[in-house]
Amino acid sequence: MKLISTRNPALRATFLEAVQAGLAPDGGLFVPTEIPRLNDVPGLLKLEFASRSAEILHRLLGDEFPRSVVDDLAHASFTFPAPLVKVAERISALELFHGPTLAFKDFGARFLARVLALGAGGHRRTVLTATSGDTGAAVAQAFHGLPGVQVVVLYPAGRVSPLQERQFATCGGNVLALAVEGAFDDCQRLVKGAFEDAELVSRLGLTSANSINIARLVAQTLYYFEGAAQTDGAPLVMSVPSGNFGNLYAGLMAQAMGAPISAFVVATNANRVVPDYLDTGVYQPRPSVATLSNAMDVGSPSNWERIFALFGGNHDAMAAALRWGSCTDGDTTRIVVDLDRAGYLADPHGAVAYRVLQSNLRDGEQGIFLATAHPAKFREALASALGREIPLPKTLSDLLDLPLLNEPLAADQAALRRRLM
Ligand SMILES: Cc1ncc(COP(=O)(O)O)c(C=O)c1O
Repeated sequence: MKLISTRNPALRATFLEAVQAGLAPDGGLFVPTEIPRLNDVPGLLKLEFASRSAEILHRLLGDEFPRSVVDDLAHASFTFPAPLVKVAERISALELFHGPTLAFKDFGARFLARVLALGAGGHRRTVLTATSGDTGAAVAQAFHGLPGVQVVVLYPAGRVSPLQERQFATCGGNVLALAVEGAFDDCQRLVKGAFEDAELVSRLGLTSANSINIARLVAQTLYYFEGAAQTDGAPLVMSVPSGNFGNLYAGLMAQAMGAPISAFVVATNANRVVPDYLDTGVYQPRPSVATLSNAMDVGSPSNWERIFALFGGNHDAMAAALRWGSCTDGDTTRIVVDLDRAGYLADPHGAVAYRVLQSNLRDGEQGIFLATAHPAKFREALASALGREIPLPKTLSDLLDLPLLNEPLAADQAALRRRLM
């Protein structure tokens, strides 16, 4: 797979180069020069998840890695299932939260850690990542204890759930958690700024584990095939709860590769930058507002640049290919309550995706919404919506007794530079 920057098609990289760099040197994002169309999808859908993933990764990365390496990558990264669970008439949840940190980010982070380990070759690497919640956990857990790699997690102080915070701020060792006095957009800005600092990049061997890293998105394409593999052939509509829009880009890649998905539904919370753009053609990033689905509280979605590039910047083409909508906190709570009564416990992000899917599903179609995080990760919000305690899985309850090992950081580029140096 060869990649180019969204801002300059002459800036080319191999997959490993793009993964190591994170961001393209001109500040753009790496995207494939072309997305290969797979001509044997029905056969691929019959394979089990890790074997199918190895096969698809081989088609994507076979020019760079031997078959045995790709097989190892897939089988070591994807050790947990992504079951499809029926939730309502014609609507199912693709549960992406059965990995070690109980969120969809485990797919991308575990794959990324192994790709980076392949390319480390004895050099020092620092993985710098901004998180609105789950990325930090998945990245910290995927890299914790990996020799030669330092992980730095930036997160908005007080704006991630206490459990999310414990998943990345209790690791210690090679994982440093910095509580930024600001919003997620500030964390993202600081990370971008660090990557534009050439000295910092080369001294620390800076790499990003955010969804700006193409390795994460390549891994995420694989569960779209898994969702399709568990359906019965009616036209399939997939609803993606979106914040930074990496997940949607991965879905669009899977569709371009031939995954049988008729349409995508873009589902956001009150942070409506993209739905507003699709409505009006005017793209206007703005400060994020806090919602119940806090991991999607993004006012300037970094991966939109990739989606924009995929459609050649053509608003009409995007509006024709996508369906979209947003969900208020009031509706999110109502859906959580309704689904609970029907026997399904949804987290707030999944609930947003369900709600927007519900209003965009047409006759004869089947819908899948991505359940991106285990509901217990948002148990405070769910407990207050449902009026009962949400049981914690043991992976999470064990964390509660551990001390936080975080450090505060001003939302200031120079402060971050000093700390990293
Ligand atoms: C639970 C959850 N759902 C949805 C999203 C949004 O995914 P994306 O940023 O790829 O749009 C996130 C992102 O952090 C998340 O943690």
